[in-house]
Amino acid sequence: MKLLLIGSGGREHALAWALAKSPKLTKLYAAPGNAGIAKVAELCDLDFSDHQSVVAFCRNNDIDLVVVGPEAPLVAGLVDDLDAAGIKSFGPSKAAAQLEGSKAFTKGVCDEATIPTAGYGRFDNLDAALAYVREKGAPIVVKADGLAAGKGVVVAMTQEEAEEAVTACFEGSFGAAGAEVVIEEFLDGEEASFFVLSDGENALPLATAQDHKRAFDGDEGPNTGGMGAYSPAPVLTDALIADVMQRIIEPTIRTLANRGTPFKGVLYAGLMMTADGPKLIEYNTRFGDPECQVLMMRLKSDLLDLLLASADGTLDQVSAEWSKEAALSVVMAAKGYPGSYDKGTEIKGLTPLSAANLEVFHAGTKSDGERVLANGGRVLNVTALGANVGEAKSVAYAAIDKIDWPEGFCRSDIGWRAIARENGS
Ligand code: AMP
Ligand code: GLY
Repeated sequence: MKLLLIGSGGREHALAWALAKSPKLTKLYAAPGNAGIAKVAELCDLDFSDHQSVVAFCRNNDIDLVVVGPEAPLVAGLVDDLDAAGIKSFGPSKAAAQLEGSKAFTKGVCDEATIPTAGYGRFDNLDAALAYVREKGAPIVVKADGLAAGKGVVVAMTQEEAEEAVTACFEGSFGAAGAEVVIEEFLDGEEASFFVLSDGENALPLATAQDHKRAFDGDEGPNTGGMGAYSPAPVLTDALIADVMQRIIEPTIRTLANRGTPFKGVLYAGLMMTADGPKLIEYNTRFGDPECQVLMMRLKSDLLDLLLASADGTLDQVSAEWSKEAALSVVMAAKGYPGSYDKGTEIKGLTPLSAANLEVFHAGTKSDGERVLANGGRVLNVTALGANVGEAKSVAYAAIDKIDWPEGFCRSDIGWRAIARENGS
């Protein structure tokens, strides 16, 4: 089969790496890709926001399946336009991607299906939003409704912070994404991510993971796209997973199917383990980044079979097998990220770093002849397998010590929560 993979992050390198292992794959193209993806795919110069040029590329190259990595093309309806042209793809339609594209939409689904989530109000004007904040008090969570690259959420610990966040939203800090604001009850507990494939009707549980959103050690500093992850997330026991499937995931899939907008693709549930059980914080409609990297490291089944079953509506006929080992991924980012940073600095020492228990996935990189240059904020994802999270962490950081990139940085404590559990503290 010939595939086109859309995206250029560490998530897409991990997907490309896993797809390349499939005996069914005959050719993999990636648009735009990165220096790591180029090792397993042919990169093509294709503007994926121009859907008709993607359609033309697929026709010219006999593409059998398009795999869409990031959220923006999903929310923009790339899958719908491919569908209309008779081209098969993995990922949700524009309507179903509203689960990620609009927080108010997801809250509506939760109401309709009685899914456990934070209580909330939604507002399109400042005065009503401020009145709600004053009535509820802090802590409280203020969210711009639309896609804001992970930056549209303020967990306000004081009333003043909450009022500032609401005001900033309506003053246009998040552009169109902030035209409507969702204000939520603060949920207290440990956070974990759960990934499920759906074909519109069936739901196949994949695996759990935990991310580290803050830039610096000790969960300090600004929020980022994610500085490291591990899988599985020990907080999500088998019993809790069964509960999440029954009370959160399955009702969501049913509700979207009943509305005539079935969800196909990967559903990524951000969950809070509260004293009252798991509650939904948010949905994403694509793999997490860097959570995908740890999932792909543990996946033993053929990824292409699973993605095809989601696209074809045959998920009830496949199963996913996972390594019992733990995987951990450390993000190396350009100094300054998530603020401003330099591009074009050289990364050395990467070549020998691949083993059965170690893979360095590339995120923002590009090739310059034989040299690998940093080309983004999050640049490398050093990903390892081990008997437990502690062992995977040792393997990952030993590899990081060999990477020569003075302009980069990483957190030194990825996995701390799981390792504390492993050590019985
Ligand atoms: P979101 O973009 O909705 O995932 O929010 C980003 C982060 O804000 C989440 O990963 C949580 O850490 C935090 N957060 C979001 N909603 C809540 C909530 N209702 N209570 C506590 N923390 C939250
Ligand atoms: N790592 C968080 C995300 O992919 O949304």
